[in-house]
Amino acid sequence: MIIGFIGAGKVGCTLAKYFSLCGMRIAGFYSRSYEHAKEASDFTHSQAYTSLADLVNDCDCLLVTVSDSQIATVWQELCLLPIANKWIGHCSGLLTSHIFSLHNIVHPFAFSLHPLYAIYDRFDCYKALSGVSFTLEANENVIHQLQTFLTPLKNPLAILPASKKVLYHAACVMLSNQVIALVQIGIDLLSQCGLNVEFSEQAWRLLFLENAKNICEVGVIDALTGPVERGDIETIKHHIMTMPVELKIIYQQLSAILLNISRTKHPSKDYRQLELELLP
Ligand SMILES: NC(=O)c1ccc[n+]([C@@H]2O[C@H](COP(=O)([O-])OP(=O)(O)OC[C@H]3O[C@@H](n4cnc5c(N)ncnc54)[C@H](OP(=O)(O)O)[C@@H]3O)[C@@H](O)[C@H]2O)c1
Repeated sequence: MIIGFIGAGKVGCTLAKYFSLCGMRIAGFYSRSYEHAKEASDFTHSQAYTSLADLVNDCDCLLVTVSDSQIATVWQELCLLPIANKWIGHCSGLLTSHIFSLHNIVHPFAFSLHPLYAIYDRFDCYKALSGVSFTLEANENVIHQLQTFLTPLKNPLAILPASKKVLYHAACVMLSNQVIALVQIGIDLLSQCGLNVEFSEQAWRLLFLENAKNICEVGVIDALTGPVERGDIETIKHHIMTMPVELKIIYQQLSAILLNISRTKHPSKDYRQLELELLP
C-alpha cells in the first residue's frame, strides 16, 4: 500500500514521517504551495508533486490532510481523476467519510482517521506519536481491511460510528483545546494580583501539571479537591462577588459540574445549600 498526502501542513508532515518510520510506504506530497510540498517531501524522503493526477497515479491511498473547510474542494478535484479503486481518507475529528460522496453515494474506500493529539508543529510532533490513540470511521465492509493496513502503526485504534463523530470531536476539544482557555483565565487573574511574572509562571505551571498528572493517575473523582468538594459556600460566594463580571457564569457552570462529581464522591454529604448559591 503506497500512501500519498494531499496537504503538507502539520498533520500531513507528522503522519507521513511517523507512518514511514513505522515501515509504511509514502509516495509524497501534493499541496497548495509547492514550496510546502517540497519541505514536507525533504523531511520524509519522499517526492514533491506539482500535479495531483501524478500523485493519484503513484498511490493506492490518498490521505487528504488539508484543513476541514478544504476537504470537499480537494474531493471535487479528486473526482475528476481515476480514483475508483483508491483508498481516500481524511483526518478531521468532526467530519465523516461521507464527505467523499458523489451523487449521494459514498466512495466505497472512503475513511476518516483521527489522531487524538494536538499537532502544533510540522516537523517535531512525529516524535510523540507512538503512544497516541487513533479513531477510524469507515463503511463497515472495509473496516477490517483498513485495520490490517494500519497494523504497522501499533497505536491504540478504535472504530467510531459516523453518527458519533460530532460528539466525539466536541469531547476532544473540551479535553484539549478548551483547557487552554481555562489556563488563560487563570493566568490573567494571577496577573491582576500584582504577583511577579516569573513567580506566577513557575507557580501556575506546577499547579496545573501536578493536577493534570493526578487526574490521569487516580481519576477525576479521587483527584478532586477545592471549595466545591468541601462545601465551602462562603469561599465560593467571595469568588463570585470579586470575579470580573464576564467570568462569573463560567465559574458557576464549572462549579456546578464539580458539584456533581463531589456528590458522586461523597453521597452522604448535603450539598443543597451550595447548589442554591451556584444555581440561583
Ligand atoms: N493540527 C491538529 O492538532 C490536528 C489534530 C487532528 C486532526 N487534525 C485534522 O487534520 C487536518 C489538517 O489539519 P492541520 O492542522 O495539518 O492543518 P494545516 O497545518 O493548516 O495544514 C493544511 C495544509 O493543507 C494545504 N491545503 C489547504 N487547502 C488545500 C487545497 N485546496 N489543496 C491542496 N492543499 C491544500 C495547506 O497547504 P499549503 O501549506 O501548501 O498552503 C496546508 O499545508 C484537518 O482535517 C484537521 O481537522 C488536526
